[in-house]
Amino acid sequence: MKTAAPVINFPIPAEKVSLAGLLSASGDALRLQIIRALAQDSFSVSELCTIFGMRQSALSHHLKVLIDAGLLSRKKEMTTTFYRRALPKGPLAALHQEILLRVDEETLPSEPQAGIARIQQRRERNSLAFFKGNLERFRQQQELIAPWQDYSEATLQLLDRNRDRRLTRIVEIGVGEGWLLPALHERAASVVALDLSEAMLAQAQAFARHLPHVEFVQGSTSQIIENGDKAGAVIANMVLHHTPDPRQMLVEASQLLEANGHFIVSELCAHDQAWAREHCGDLWLGFAPEQLQAWAEEAGLHASASVFIAQRNGFQIQIHQFEKTTTSASEESI
Ligand SMILES: C[S@@+](CC[C@H](N)C(=O)[O-])C[C@H]1O[C@@H](n2cnc3c(N)ncnc32)[C@H](O)[C@@H]1O
Repeated sequence: MKTAAPVINFPIPAEKVSLAGLLSASGDALRLQIIRALAQDSFSVSELCTIFGMRQSALSHHLKVLIDAGLLSRKKEMTTTFYRRALPKGPLAALHQEILLRVDEETLPSEPQAGIARIQQRRERNSLAFFKGNLERFRQQQELIAPWQDYSEATLQLLDRNRDRRLTRIVEIGVGEGWLLPALHERAASVVALDLSEAMLAQAQAFARHLPHVEFVQGSTSQIIENGDKAGAVIANMVLHHTPDPRQMLVEASQLLEANGHFIVSELCAHDQAWAREHCGDLWLGFAPEQLQAWAEEAGLHASASVFIAQRNGFQIQIHQFEKTTTSASEESI
């Protein structure tokens, strides 16, 4: 396994975070609300201004205090800087973790929560519009970044590990053109092919309509969770970077899985090729493997194997297999 994966940038060296800085940054109700909001997603300053109904100059001050205390990190993507929670690290990691746990014990008030919902709907509309308008170009652009065959082969190898019988059900989230469906159909009694985009799902249907045990569903994961059907494996290949709330997708994948079922996810490692936003409709410029693993742990999914595939074009693909354990980290810690 390759280990040369990008790491999450810590805003300032962990040892430079002082106890006074950490305590004073977290001793403010608004700053705690900002940290609470960032449990759900990462946001730009202007999005945070919308969420909290504040002017940018006032909000920027609070963001700086939180960054200096090591509670937030930021990442510039083209002209926009996105803020997210920093992972606890260094000598004050235990206190940092405790602050996050306490922050998450309370819910966000309804107004900022409604602001977050509006922002995520807007991002989702942009993603849908992209796939609708770029069907023809999509495969070509995607292939430039991550050849389908590379990550699909690794996905199937991970799916076949430790498995001696056909699965009852596999759910593939974001099937796109449905190219993986024949291989999944061989490995399970039934396959749910899910895609948010009506146009992409129509392509998948045209490609895989001869497979009798594939059910095509247009929509998001939450719709199939409502049916209560569980799956032995859930797959999401190259989907997380198109979704407004990737962390929530891991939570929903976990909810769909039977105990000891597997979630297999292929993604780009974090990169700085901002053109992918415009040309490939990417909402996120890849993910640090540690970030995916931290989200998975929170969702009760434990990493069981990872494969990293470097591309000649400089992009790196990560494919992880996570196993569902009975209790999630958040359930254990409360
Ligand atoms: C880059 S394509 C990948 C398609 C396919 N998995 C592959 O590897 O070729 C991403 C697909 O995910 C779909 N998608 C994005 N967000 C989604 C979501 N939240 N739920 C279901 N599908 C989603 C998009 O409509 C698109 O078809």
